[in-house]
Amino acid sequence: MYLASCLLTTLALGLSLCGAFPAPSRHVVHEARATIPTGWSPMRRADPDIVLPLRIGLMQPNIHKVEEYLMEVSHPQSPGYGNHWTPARVVQTFRASKEAIDTVRSWLLTSGLGADRVRVSNSGTWIHVNVTVEEAEELLGTEYYIYYGEETDSEVIACAHRYHLPEYVSEYVELVAPTLQFDFTRRRRGPEKRNGISTGSLWGGMPSYSSPISPSPHVNGPLANLSAQLSACSDQLTPNCLRLLYNFTEYVPQVPGNNSIAIVEFTPNAYRPSDLDLFFANFSPSQVGERPILESIDGGVVQTTYATYDDNVESDLDLEYAMTLVGSTQNVTLLQAGDLYEGATPDNVLDALDASYCTYEGGDSPEYDVTYPDPNPAGYQGHDCGTVSLPNVLSFSFSSPEAYYTPAYLERMCNEFAKLGMMGVTVLWSTGDYGVAALGGQCLNSTGSLGTGSGYPIFGPSFPATCPYVTSVGATEINTSSPAQESAAYVSPQVSSGGGFSNVFALPSYQKSAVQDYLTNYPPPYPASLYNSSGNSRGYPDLSANGVRYITAVDGGWLQVYGTSASTPVVAAFLTTINDARIAAGKSTIGFINPTIYSSSFQVAFNDITDGSNPGCDTDGFFAEPGWDPVTGIGTPNVGMLRDLWLALS
Ligand SMILES: *[C@@H]1O[C@H](CO)[C@@H](O)[C@H](O)[C@H]1NC(C)=O
Ligand SMILES: *[C@@H]1O[C@H](CO)[C@@H](O)[C@H](O)[C@H]1NC(C)=O
Ligand SMILES: *[C@@H]1O[C@H](CO)[C@@H](O)[C@H](O)[C@H]1NC(C)=O
Ligand SMILES: *[C@@H]1O[C@H](CO)[C@@H](O)[C@H](O)[C@H]1NC(C)=O
Ligand SMILES: *[C@@H]1O[C@H](CO)[C@@H](O)[C@H](O)[C@H]1NC(C)=O
Ligand SMILES: *[C@@H]1O[C@H](CO)[C@@H](O)[C@H](O)[C@H]1NC(C)=O
Ligand SMILES: *[C@@H]1O[C@H](CO)[C@@H](O)[C@H](O)[C@H]1NC(C)=O
Ligand SMILES: *[C@@H]1O[C@H](CO)[C@@H](O)[C@H](O)[C@H]1NC(C)=O
Repeated sequence: MYLASCLLTTLALGLSLCGAFPAPSRHVVHEARATIPTGWSPMRRADPDIVLPLRIGLMQPNIHKVEEYLMEVSHPQSPGYGNHWTPARVVQTFRASKEAIDTVRSWLLTSGLGADRVRVSNSGTWIHVNVTVEEAEELLGTEYYIYYGEETDSEVIACAHRYHLPEYVSEYVELVAPTLQFDFTRRRRGPEKRNGISTGSLWGGMPSYSSPISPSPHVNGPLANLSAQLSACSDQLTPNCLRLLYNFTEYVPQVPGNNSIAIVEFTPNAYRPSDLDLFFANFSPSQVGERPILESIDGGVVQTTYATYDDNVESDLDLEYAMTLVGSTQNVTLLQAGDLYEGATPDNVLDALDASYCTYEGGDSPEYDVTYPDPNPAGYQGHDCGTVSLPNVLSFSFSSPEAYYTPAYLERMCNEFAKLGMMGVTVLWSTGDYGVAALGGQCLNSTGSLGTGSGYPIFGPSFPATCPYVTSVGATEINTSSPAQESAAYVSPQVSSGGGFSNVFALPSYQKSAVQDYLTNYPPPYPASLYNSSGNSRGYPDLSANGVRYITAVDGGWLQVYGTSASTPVVAAFLTTINDARIAAGKSTIGFINPTIYSSSFQVAFNDITDGSNPGCDTDGFFAEPGWDPVTGIGTPNVGMLRDLWLALS
């Protein structure tokens, strides 16, 4: 693999890139890569006079303790339960040491760069210096080339295969950019994109739906009547069905002004105001005219340029259910991310929530994230960092294949979810609608490539559901032959509850006995070559809620909508009322809930789902069993009981 690409590179340039670089003495290789990213070809050596804005990212002390810090404030038995950190404490704890700053700075000065050229960032994690390509090659013992990317029709400057640092500097440095990252764009043009490049392809969220219907009068009636008619809910799922299934009797928020919930949408996804009103008129008349509070991120707009079902169904679904369930007094915030040209990825949202994430470990990835300021002059010309205040509950109805990304990218984002949890935010992610497969039904082959069909038999986990610091939400359905009972959601081809085991993240402590009991007591009928069966990897989902046949107003009509996209904002709304009860009692928010919901005293407050499975990758998937399972997690919530249990915690 390495050899092949190395030869190609060499031929294309007519130069030898594969020999050892002349590294200055006592330098060590700091970062290296075997191949250049696909789609890029080397054009020529970079002109020595080009000025590079060199950024040296310093090691974050304490990052290895992130799980420990998170458990201290999130484990119900911890004396520090609920003592969430301030954003300032988070920044302080992960800020680079003075020793690191001094060491790197003095290296630059002794290398001949004037002190006036070297600048330390406010967050203390970066050192900036403008250098010529010639100076950078000297400093880093590397060679810079111009690469051309056909797909984006752009050129970048990057190092060929590796760069070096003096050994005594290397230990304080996370990374240096621009080097291997392919993010220093020289020129970029190209037509306006129909969909945000990443939301459209990598981050799937659009729930499936079936043909238009009208809400039946059965499902609009009072709860008592509906209870006798629960089978109507297996046909048409409505807010009252959810209240009935999950013991979520009308809750009147006591301190709505002190509480918050945010739903994330990626442009071009947009809600239609008239759809909200159609829904409210049928299911929550007092809310007609109500809208979410819009917080725009990186030019995010509730766009009306594109208005197909595909553009509107996700946002309509999420907001209709979340707003109805929390009720008219509790505001719902809409975090709308991305302008119409670039779109957005979750990293844009994290940047807006935490300014220090913008630069953390090199900042967003040019390979997987979108670029702001938007290279299109008509697009958003800023990049929002720390502009949005932290909500108590954050709901994302999206997922992406874990295998698509490098472990470094996954870990960077996952650690940020831990930081949000430390600050008291509950972060919910849907697990996707493809069972043991990832977005679009993609599975893996033995070399780890994603694809569909018989050449790709290995289960394909979904991210960020596999991040141990988020709460991932699967889907259930009402059993039509036994309506009081739920089973794992499987309606082909609309939904199969996403679940399985990570290939990247290790088993977190809070999940240890749940996962190991499942694998021991109900060993799945698949060889270890199809999934990580070691009992040492993170299993998902954590919990679930109904995700089938949601009656949803979309584009002026009614659809039945399916998916973990539906279950996730519903769980977010439930948890928001629990936060309200705790805040009113003078207690903290529930924050990162996993250590609590897996604790033995909380199991009574979940309906254990033991029927059904999550087919995918040409298998029946995993099976729902007593206790936790990688199909429905620990089960569906009994919200009344959960509220009482959480109120009893300190
Ligand atoms: C590098 O150059 C840019 C553009 O001239 C300038 O805005 C920036 O402040 C410079 N950075 C440093 C660290 O001197
Ligand atoms: C109860 O449900 C039945 C249909 O099963 C319906 O005919 C009746 O009108 C409902 N009653 C009320 C009070 O909504
Ligand atoms: C909800 O938002 C509206 C509009 O911003 C504001 O006027 C109102 O005070 C908010 N309600 C609460 C309870 O915070
Ligand atoms: C896996 O798929 C990739 C392309 O998607 C291919 O290059 C690779 O050879 C495949 N590996 C195996 C073992 O089939
Ligand atoms: C399974 O996951 C664990 C934890 O991430 C890892 O240490 C182990 O190597 C994985 N096993 C296989 C066969 O991939
Ligand atoms: C709610 O917020 C107000 C205004 O910030 C504050 O005075 C009050 O103490 C808060 N109430 C609770 C229960 O936290
Ligand atoms: C539905 O319930 C019946 C009766 O309890 C059970 O036999 C069947 O397996 C359930 N179906 C599913 C899909 O879980
Ligand atoms: C619903 O929750 C309440 C607590 O708020 C509890 O007393 C009741 O038993 C629960 N009902 C069911 C059917 O679980």
